[in-house]
Amino acid sequence: MRITVSVIKADVGSVGGHLQPSPALRQTIANVVRDEGAPFLIDHRVGSFGDDVFILMTHTRGLNDETVHHLAWEAFLRGTACAKREGLYGAGQDLLKDAFSGNVRGMGPAVAELEFEERTAEPFVLFGADKTEPGAYNLPLYLAFADPMFCSGLLLSSKIKKGFTFRILDVAHAEADRFIDLQTPEDLYDLAALLRDNERFVVASIHSRATGDIAAAVSTTRLHNIAGKYTGKDDPVALVRTQQNFPATGEVLAPYRLCHYVGGFMRGSHTGPLMPVRAGTGVSFFDGPPIVTALAFSMSGGNLTQPVDAFDHPFWDHVRTRAAEKAITIREQGFSGNAMLPQSELEYGGIVEILDALEPRFRIAGAMVDAPSHELVAAGAR
Ligand code: 13P
Ligand code: 13P
Ligand code: MG
Ligand code: MG
Repeated sequence: MRITVSVIKADVGSVGGHLQPSPALRQTIANVVRDEGAPFLIDHRVGSFGDDVFILMTHTRGLNDETVHHLAWEAFLRGTACAKREGLYGAGQDLLKDAFSGNVRGMGPAVAELEFEERTAEPFVLFGADKTEPGAYNLPLYLAFADPMFCSGLLLSSKIKKGFTFRILDVAHAEADRFIDLQTPEDLYDLAALLRDNERFVVASIHSRATGDIAAAVSTTRLHNIAGKYTGKDDPVALVRTQQNFPATGEVLAPYRLCHYVGGFMRGSHTGPLMPVRAGTGVSFFDGPPIVTALAFSMSGGNLTQPVDAFDHPFWDHVRTRAAEKAITIREQGFSGNAMLPQSELEYGGIVEILDALEPRFRIAGAMVDAPSHELVAAGAR
C-alpha cells in the first residue's frame, strides 16, 4: 500500500516566553485535526517539542497535498486564536502569510514528507528540534547514513553498503529551490564540504541507492528567508525510515550522543550543543540548550502505533549531562567569537543598528586634523 507520512509543525504561541505550548493550545490543534481530517487521514498524532507543535499525519494523497496542508494551516490558525485568548507569547509566530495558497511550503510552518510503498514492518523515527535550524540534522544524518563508525550496516548489509543519494538544498537561494544530488560513498568528501556549512547547505532528503526508496526527509524552511527578518528559529522536523535496507533505529540515533554545536539557542543568535531530550521537554537555560526529540513509530496500512520515546533511556541521561557541560562551556565566553553566530545569521537587527549608528564615528587614520589629541597621537600625526 502506498502511504504518505506528513509532518507539519509550527510555533503558534507558548507559555512563559519561548518555552512550551499550553495544553489547551495543543488540544485545540488536535481537535481540528481529529474532526476535520477524519474524511481523508488514515491516522494522526499531535504533540510538541520545545515551543513547537507538530501534526503527524498518514494518508494516501501524496506529497504537498493541498487538502492535507490546508488542514494543518487551519489547525494552526485555530491554535493561534487559542494562544491569543490565553495570552501566550508569540501567538501565530510561524504563520507568516495571510492567505493559504496550495501548500504550506514557504508560509512559515515546517514540513517533512515521505511517500513510499509500505513495508510489511514499517519502522520510522520522527525527529523534532527546537531552538535550532534545519542544518542541525546535517551531521547526524551524514554519520548515520555514510560513516561506518556510526552505521555498522554499511559493513554488514550489502544493500546498505551500496550507499545513499543525498539531496542537498542551498537554503541561501531563497527565490527557488537550488539543490544538488550527491552519492555516497563516492562523493563523501564533497558531501562533507557542503554539510560543513549548516546555515547554507541542508540535507533535504536521502534515498537508498540499492532500491531507490526514500529513506529520510527534512524540513528546510528558513523563516528569515520568508519574512526577511527574524521571526523565530526554524526548529526543523525530520522523518527517517529505519531497518532492513536503511540504517537501524539505533544507528540513526547514535550520532546524537555527540551533542554537536549548532546555531540557535537564545534569540536564535548563538551556538549551543544539541541536547537529545525526552518528548515534551521544553527549553530553559538561556532559552535552550537546543533540543532534539526522537519518536519511533511502527505502522500498518498507515495506522500508527503509539510512539516509543527513543531518548527516554538511561544512556541519554549521561549524554544530557555532557550536553549541559558543553552548553556551560560555550556560554562562558558570552558574546565573544563563535559563541554567537556570524553577523549574517544574527536573528535580531540590533547589532546592525549599533554598527550603523557607530559608522559616522569611525575615522580614517591620517585624515583627522580636528581629532582630539590622543587620537592624533594614535594616528601618528604629532
Ligand atoms: P534483531 O536481530 O533484533 O532484529 O536486530 C537487528 C538489528 O538491526 C539491530 O540493530
Ligand atoms: P523559537 O524560534 O523557538 O520561538 O525561539 C525564539 C527565541 O528567540 C528564543 O530565544
Ligand atoms: Mg517561540
Ligand atoms: Mg521553537
